[in-house]
Amino acid sequence: MDIIEALMTRRSIRKYTDKPVDDEQIETILKAAMYAPSASNRQPWQFIVIKDRALLDKVSEWHPYAKMIHEASVAILVCCDLSIQDARELAIQDCSAATENLLLAAHGLGLGAVWLGVTPRPDRMNGAIKQFGLPEHILPLALIPIGYPAESKPDPERYNPERVHNDRW
Ligand SMILES: Cc1cc2nc3c(=O)[nH]c(=O)nc-3n(C[C@H](O)[C@H](O)[C@H](O)COP(=O)(O)O)c2cc1C
Repeated sequence: MDIIEALMTRRSIRKYTDKPVDDEQIETILKAAMYAPSASNRQPWQFIVIKDRALLDKVSEWHPYAKMIHEASVAILVCCDLSIQDARELAIQDCSAATENLLLAAHGLGLGAVWLGVTPRPDRMNGAIKQFGLPEHILPLALIPIGYPAESKPDPERYNPERVHNDRW
């Protein structure tokens, strides 16, 4: 799959088979995430890989849109490390770029994934902080359940020339 095809065919996948994602695939996904661009190349990300079934299931106690996690074989919590990048807005942009890389890598490996927003919702952030014992300088950005897809989605037409401005607004 070339990069343009990958970008355009990635969809949020919320249903998974019970086939497990293996450690090599998880490492490839994390590696792709860590190749994202970041301000001053600070790479202010940290990742928590969650494979324990009971811990995966617990997430739906504090995330209101995480029902699919009960089917996912693994989930990755993407966190911003504010001790590496203390400008919060920059850290969020950097880790968002890493999150998109992670989603695309999962897609490229034939897996399905979905971005579950955590920051800036205080209830979700507190849920993640409590469940994973995050220290004060770690901001939970997004949680990404991953599994083999049990649904396929059409590729919608999203190109909108009205959103493109040439030379000035
Ligand atoms: C910041 C952010 C937060 C999101 N939060 C959720 C969420 O909590 N639950 C969910 O099911 N999808 C969530 N999504 C996925 C979006 O619903 C999805 O990307 C959007 O509907 C477009 O569909 P696509 O990903 O298939 O292109 C989130 C996406 C982003 C970028």
